[in-house]
Amino acid sequence: MSELVIDNVWKEYGDQIVLENVSLTVASRAFVALVGPSGCGKSTFLRMLLGQERTTRGTILLDGEPLPPEPGPDRGVVFQRYSVFPHLTVLGNVLLGKELTAAKYKAKLFGSARGGAIEEARQLIAEVGLSGAEGKYPAQLSGGMQQRLALAQALIMKPKVLLLDEPFGALDPGIRAEIHTLMKRLWHETQMTVVMVTHDMREAFTLATRVVAFERPRDRPEEKQRYGATITKDIAIWPPRRAGEPSHSNPDRDGPVALQGLHRDDPSSSPSGDK
Ligand SMILES: Nc1ncnc2c1ncn2[C@@H]1O[C@H](COP(=O)(O)OP(=O)(O)O)[C@@H](O)[C@H]1O
Ligand SMILES: [Mg+2]
Repeated sequence: MSELVIDNVWKEYGDQIVLENVSLTVASRAFVALVGPSGCGKSTFLRMLLGQERTTRGTILLDGEPLPPEPGPDRGVVFQRYSVFPHLTVLGNVLLGKELTAAKYKAKLFGSARGGAIEEARQLIAEVGLSGAEGKYPAQLSGGMQQRLALAQALIMKPKVLLLDEPFGALDPGIRAEIHTLMKRLWHETQMTVVMVTHDMREAFTLATRVVAFERPRDRPEEKQRYGATITKDIAIWPPRRAGEPSHSNPDRDGPVALQGLHRDDPSSSPSGDK
């Protein structure tokens, strides 16, 4: 299980209200794409889910429990850049989470525990398509390979929730399509719930089960400080996608054909439509 319940969350920085009245329940194993104009608080929202930022008001529950106030192994994250450590090899980067967890208990990974962790890391490296690159450093990898590495680094901790902040935004279209296929497979094969920020609508509708838009309902210059962004659209992808049920027989189902969802004129899909 990995259900997120975000209840009436507000985020303010000093006098500036960034987010207001954000409520959202994300089902276990859903894949939510979060879209919205630059500066509307998408990354801030993701950082609150990660535990890097506190909410000013409201609560966030993960499986019914308040989110721990700091990042932990139950939440993995991949940013557009710099999720991996430049001074560690591919293998070192993927092993890092395990080593840090051991270090927390004043232990080091020794002997068979270390062997097991290395074996697990190698398998994951293979799964993201980086076999043979175990000894390389991030600077020796292409952008697409670095993002594959970042995914492996996050996944080794088997997070309940994977948070992605424009993870594929800097990649060339061909490479992006390949990594989309990988991302879909990983989502189907694991138990995790995914929340992905993207500015690419096509990407949102290609990968997600649900597309949520943040916007500022009041955006005049004199209103910018006093009103934050909130959820203005909440679109369920049709036909529905379900984790663990890849539709090999009908590739269109997972493909951009779901872009039709964009034009759906369904007032019930907008929880705060009348606001
Ligand atoms: N640590 C911070 N301190 C003060 N203001 C911040 C901080 N982080 C973000 N903001 C402000 O919050 C707003 C939303 O930022 P952000 O979440 O990065 O937007 P997005 O990811 O949607 O582009 C911006 O106006 C930004 O300047
Ligand atoms: Mg951002």
